[in-house]
Amino acid sequence: MKAIVIDEYGTADMLHEADLEVPQIAADEVLVKIAATSINPIDWKARLGLLKPMFDWGFPVVLGWDLSGIITKVGKDVVSFKVGDEVFARPDIYEDGKRGTYAEFAAVKEDKVALKPKSISFEEAAAIPLAGLTAWQVIVDRLKVKKDEKVLIQAGAGGVGIFAIQIAKYLGAYVVTTASPKNKSLLTKLGADEVIDYHTHSIVDVLKDYDAVFDTVDQIDDGLEILKPTGRLVTIAGHPTEKQESATQSVSTWWLQPNGKELSQLGELVAQGTVKVIIDSVFELTSSGLQAAHKRSESHHAQGKIIIKA
Ligand SMILES: NC(=O)c1ccc[n+]([C@@H]2O[C@H](COP(=O)([O-])OP(=O)(O)OC[C@H]3O[C@@H](n4cnc5c(N)ncnc54)[C@H](OP(=O)(O)O)[C@@H]3O)[C@@H](O)[C@H]2O)c1
Repeated sequence: MKAIVIDEYGTADMLHEADLEVPQIAADEVLVKIAATSINPIDWKARLGLLKPMFDWGFPVVLGWDLSGIITKVGKDVVSFKVGDEVFARPDIYEDGKRGTYAEFAAVKEDKVALKPKSISFEEAAAIPLAGLTAWQVIVDRLKVKKDEKVLIQAGAGGVGIFAIQIAKYLGAYVVTTASPKNKSLLTKLGADEVIDYHTHSIVDVLKDYDAVFDTVDQIDDGLEILKPTGRLVTIAGHPTEKQESATQSVSTWWLQPNGKELSQLGELVAQGTVKVIIDSVFELTSSGLQAAHKRSESHHAQGKIIIKA
């Protein structure tokens, strides 16, 4: 099958096309013919070798951890899906480093898969799993945002931020976010009550007594400063210091846990139009397509999700 791989850690120009074996599936896995995948910052962080302490991959490495597509094979223990189902998923990060989603096929454990709502395109569906589930798990499960609470979501125009704003609004919160001025009207349309231009205003000068902070930019001290003494902060971008952890507010880090059931719930919100998918750009599954997509993500200024069409 066609895949886009790296043979060493380095720049985006290392990404190139290769011919690999179609992955074998285990009894609890399905094989998906990929229609689309999407880029997340973890992709280029992995490409640079920053995940080496966690994963001892052998080259070539296939990156990518979002997919939508059609099931072409099911393992013998799979009960919830069949060949022909249209699905989307955030697959596990496999130890061998060869089973990412920059490829024609990927194996996914049954419990990580969700049926794709018919009304969502494959491109939209591929945008949801990693960023959408991260936003869902932080806003709903970790911060436990409630109606009328005041919530700050950093980097509102990013892949995670756009989902987080809409999920927090769905729960009835008052939502403030940070963004460049060009993104203000989009984020207001998506429900943000206030959009702070982080280039000209520091959140600590304009916000106080917040109930919850979703930190996506590693500004934990600033987040703590605007919280009530009983407030909660979750970061997906930093590592709280001992001093930060000893604050009166609760402070924690979160790593996405892929989960097919939660993905299904989020898919329903998208199908109903409660949560909108915002696509920054679409590239082809080619060497030049992936190189351009990584460079776009590394600019730190994508508006929503960067999609790869297989
Ligand atoms: N722990 C986990 O499980 C997990 C999961 C997903 C993501 N992450 C991490 O979370 C971070 C965000 O991910 P993402 O997918 O949302 O990234 P992204 O899509 O690349 O974010 C791009 C956005 O960041 C905004 N931005 C850049 N610098 C900013 C700043 N100083 N203040 C406010 N906004 C800023 C830009 O907004 P403007 O263009 O408006 O300036 C742009 O829209 C990344 O570090 C990623 O690795 C962690």
